This record gives sequence, structure tokens and C-alpha cells, in this order.
Amino acid sequence: MKTENLESIARKLVAPGKGILAADESSGTIEKRLKSISVPSTEENRRAYREVLFTTKGAGEFISGVILFDETIRQKTRDGRTFVKALEEQGIIPGIKVDKGAKGMANFPGEKITEGLDGLRERLAEYRKLGARFAKWRAVIAIGEKIPTHTCITANAEALARYAALCQEGDLVPIVEPEVLMDGAHTIERYFEVTQETLESVFHALYEHRVSLEGMLLKPNMVLSGKDCPKQASVQEVAEATVRCMKRVVPGAVPGLVFLSGGQTDQQATEHLNAMNQLPDLPWQLSFSYGRALQAPVLKEWKGEQANVAKAQQAFHHRAWCNSKARFGKYTEDMETAKVA
Ligand code: 13P
Repeated sequence: MKTENLESIARKLVAPGKGILAADESSGTIEKRLKSISVPSTEENRRAYREVLFTTKGAGEFISGVILFDETIRQKTRDGRTFVKALEEQGIIPGIKVDKGAKGMANFPGEKITEGLDGLRERLAEYRKLGARFAKWRAVIAIGEKIPTHTCITANAEALARYAALCQEGDLVPIVEPEVLMDGAHTIERYFEVTQETLESVFHALYEHRVSLEGMLLKPNMVLSGKDCPKQASVQEVAEATVRCMKRVVPGAVPGLVFLSGGQTDQQATEHLNAMNQLPDLPWQLSFSYGRALQAPVLKEWKGEQANVAKAQQAFHHRAWCNSKARFGKYTEDMETAKVA
């Protein structure tokens, strides 16, 4: 019974035309985002900003789930509904980030290991009671000279698998996120190689920990040229490399891949998703779980002012619509300036 429930939630999260909004920025990250529009990171400003996103009318047409942060899952709208309830009223499934952040890995300079396994079973039970139906854990793999090491990759894969097993035990769909960073001058070929090795290690650990693949989602990075690589791959090259890499290592039993945007511009992230969905023979749903790529235009319009809420919500609705079109491979550049239809 439990497994059936997990599978049905996982499938709903990657329903055709829909994707996930990652709004689970930790305190440090949201402070950075708000600072970029000169808004101080007070609890009320963080709440008000998230309310803009979560109460956007019609968002449920394009957004299947929202990932919340510990503080956010406990907050309410101005009219007193919990955020969980406000999302559910829009047909959106609430989720929760449960890792405690990526910390420097002892003895491995430049590499990180994600913390948060201690007490996780109890925290998951509480989040489930608060209304979460899925969870997220992010591992971070950096590319550089002599890194990533095998030790860093396998330590993170093991933690991801232990997290995923605990989620399924607690009736939450785990989103497994091993993010290989785009920061650096690496070529797309190198990015491919490291992404493949990382995902192989992750799926091996998931198998060892008896995680049900049908009851989880993978949140991978796309395979592109490193941010500072002098030769930037085209949209078509990125789409082909990413799908080729995923096909090698991600079992078809996984219902969907929800890509992170990882520092791409909002338009790039949409273009890449669109091009991937135009490729033939895709064994899984290819969707999005974007943070920055969905929120950048919203922050820009909102600027911390109640008077700008309508414009900010329009920007969010529009961005979500563009990505919804990309889920079908039907996005075109002229939609950037078009009205949602
Ligand atoms: P970005 O799309 O901004 O990479 O955020 C997604 C996310 O949830 C990272 O953990």
C-alpha cells in the first residue's frame, strides 16, 4: 500500500506539463537572494516573498509541487492559512528540504559532504504530519583539478541512499539530488564524465539500500559547458549530451527526472528542457525543479513592495508557463514576450 502511494505521488509530481518550484533556500541563500533586490532578510520579508510565489493564481496548472524550507513549512499567508494549505488549495503538493547543508569534507580540500542523517527519521515524521509528501536532499560535487575524488562521490552517494530509504520508510517520496556543479572552466565532455560517474555511484548505493526506484525522483544537473569554459556548447549539444548521459545510468524504472537550473539563466534552463523533450525515445518524464530559473524574474518585479505583488505573480506565472511548454518540447522564443495562452 505504502509503495503504491509513493509511486502515485512521484508520478503526480512529473505529470505532463508540470514541474516543481524549488523554494527551499536555506537562511543564508535566501538572504543572498533578498539582498540582490536590497530587501533585508527578516522572517516577515521571507514569508511575504514566499507568499507571492505560493498564492499566484493559476500556478497549479504548471506547478505540481513546491519544495519548502523548515521555516517556510511552518509559515502562513497574510489571511492566516498555512502555506501547506494554500498550496494544496491550488492542487500543488508540498515538499520539504531535509538535508542540513553541504559542509567541507575532512581531508578532502575543495570537496563537500552533505550533513543531516542524524535524527532524520524523527524529522521526516514531523514534516509528514505538517503536510509534506515529498522531500529533497542535495549533494554537491565540484569539478576541478584532481576533483572530484572517488571518496567524495561515494560518501555523498551513500548519504543520498540512506536519506532516500528513510524517506520511503516514512511515506515521503525522496528527490535524490546529486548536483555536479557548473562552476569552473571544464568542458562539456568532462562534465559528462563526472556526471556519469556520480550517477552510477548514486544508483549503486540506492540499489544497495533497497530504495524503490518507482517511488523516487532524480534531480540531476544538465550536462553543459562549465560556466567559465571558453567554448560554450549549443542548446542542441547540451540536450543531446544530457539525455545520452542519463540513458547510460538512470534506470527506466525511475518515473521522472526533475532538472535543477544550477546557475543557468531562466531562458537557458527553459531552452535546454525544451530541446531535451524534443528528442526521441525518452524512458522517463523530463521535467524541472528550478529555483533560480523560476524565481529570478519574480524577485526582479517584486522588490519587496506590496504594490508590486501582481506584477511579480504575473512574472512567475509566465515563467512557469514557458517551462510547461518546454515539458512538451513546444516552447518557442517568442513566448518570452507573449501572454500566457
Ligand atoms: P536551482 O534551480 O537554482 O539550481 O535550485 C534548485 C535546487 O533546489 C538546488 O538544490
